[in-house]
Amino acid sequence: MSSRHESDNEEIGEDPRVSILRGLDYGHSWTFAMEHVVELFQVCLIHPGDTALEIGSFRGHCALAMALADKRVTSIDVSDKHLAGRRALLEQHGRQAEFLIESSDAFLDRPGQFDIILHDNSRRGSALVAELHAYWSRKLNPGGLLIVHNVEQIDLPKLVRRLGPESHIVTSDKRRRQLGYFAKPTSDAN
Ligand SMILES: C[S@@+](CC[C@H](N)C(=O)[O-])C[C@H]1O[C@@H](n2cnc3c(N)ncnc32)[C@H](O)[C@@H]1O
Repeated sequence: MSSRHESDNEEIGEDPRVSILRGLDYGHSWTFAMEHVVELFQVCLIHPGDTALEIGSFRGHCALAMALADKRVTSIDVSDKHLAGRRALLEQHGRQAEFLIESSDAFLDRPGQFDIILHDNSRRGSALVAELHAYWSRKLNPGGLLIVHNVEQIDLPKLVRRLGPESHIVTSDKRRRQLGYFAKPTSDAN
């Protein structure tokens, strides 16, 4: 009889979607860490609402994680360099995402709101805080979740004061890159 103490992921019945995410190529420094991609998938699984927006698609790892959690994903990037690759990645795993070539500034003026917004472009400092507030107030549904990569690079107390989230939490990967989660109140007080 086989023991249930094995650390082997197959033995304890790992979700096959998590196995897909663990099997991706994490060789590029711009890519989320594997533990954060898996965490993103798990958060999307339990967060209510169907729609997710990603700002900064790159090679499609995060778009795939959100699509595997059954979110309807829109993902924007200013660059088309990896457009074919990220489309192929989603297709390879039987999922879809709408990949648009668009800047985060221009997309703010598009119609529509989302239940989850993942922000991961290269903007930093006070310009980033202003952009995050604009997405929070204009593009995130009440009760929605704003997720921000590399929050260790910004003034977190200032961002929290500006957004006024119902709650927030920050997690770290092995390289100490941080992912911040900010919950928007259901009644819009901002
Ligand atoms: C760190 S990578 C994103 C990594 C990705 N989230 C993943 O799945 O691992 C940042 C991406 O943001 C894009 N980017 C930079 N500035 C942008 C802007 N203003 N609007 C939209 N995308 C932008 C870059 O082209 C790059 O592909």
